[in-house]
Amino acid sequence: MIQIPDGDMLICGVTSPEELEEMSIDLMLKAFRPAERQKQFLMEISKLPRGKVVTAQLKGEIVGYVTFCPPDESERWSSGPEEIIELGSIEVSPKFRKHGLARQMLEVAFKDENMEKYLVLATEYYWHWDMEGMGMNIWEYREMIKRLMETVDMVLTDTDEEEISSHPANMLMVRFGNKVSPTTTRQFETMLFTE
Ligand SMILES: CC(C)(COP(=O)(O)OP(=O)(O)OC[C@H]1O[C@@H](n2cnc3c(N)ncnc32)[C@H](O)[C@@H]1OP(=O)(O)O)[C@@H](O)C(=O)NCCC(=O)NCCS
Repeated sequence: MIQIPDGDMLICGVTSPEELEEMSIDLMLKAFRPAERQKQFLMEISKLPRGKVVTAQLKGEIVGYVTFCPPDESERWSSGPEEIIELGSIEVSPKFRKHGLARQMLEVAFKDENMEKYLVLATEYYWHWDMEGMGMNIWEYREMIKRLMETVDMVLTDTDEEEISSHPANMLMVRFGNKVSPTTTRQFETMLFTE
């Protein structure tokens, strides 16, 4: 629970499809898709076998979220071992940014011991960044995201993956859970570069 002037903000480590259905969503959560569609998307993720949705909630409304799910079939990581999952997206409503919500949602997500068996990827593409809303240039924004991800031991990792290497601001961040097998780590490392 985080206290902010608007009330008590609840960080929910695992938000079930039923809970998500009951809650409203802040209409400003639209960095990835319109808010109502984002809510449907969160529900779909929460139903997946390796899917997980962490939310920041205020008075029954979703005001922030982090998602984890298996890599999309179109991505090269999807042909890797099952221990690879993706931190798909993280977003906080502009009204509640800079209160530490993103950091807290990540901290809560990784407090779960179960996460230690996963190699978690985050593919960061600058076209999802709200540079205008944050008053930051692309490099300041990149640095902010990198530092945010580093708070949960995600490490900037080189790759020749096409979308990531299509722009120098894009990045791949990776967290190796402490129960990830050496075989999975080796397999993942062979996927980073095609040549
Ligand atoms: C990125 C985002 C999730 C951060 O959410 P947030 O709740 O404001 O983040 P926090 O308050 O936890 O802050 C995280 C760090 O970023 C810094 N930060 C956040 N907003 C900032 C701003 N406007 N100016 C400077 N630093 C800022 C914080 O100071 C903090 O760093 P610190 O721990 O070194 O102090 C939010 O800005 C957002 O939803 N952006 C649009 C979607 C997006 O870009 N998602 C990430 C790519 S998937």
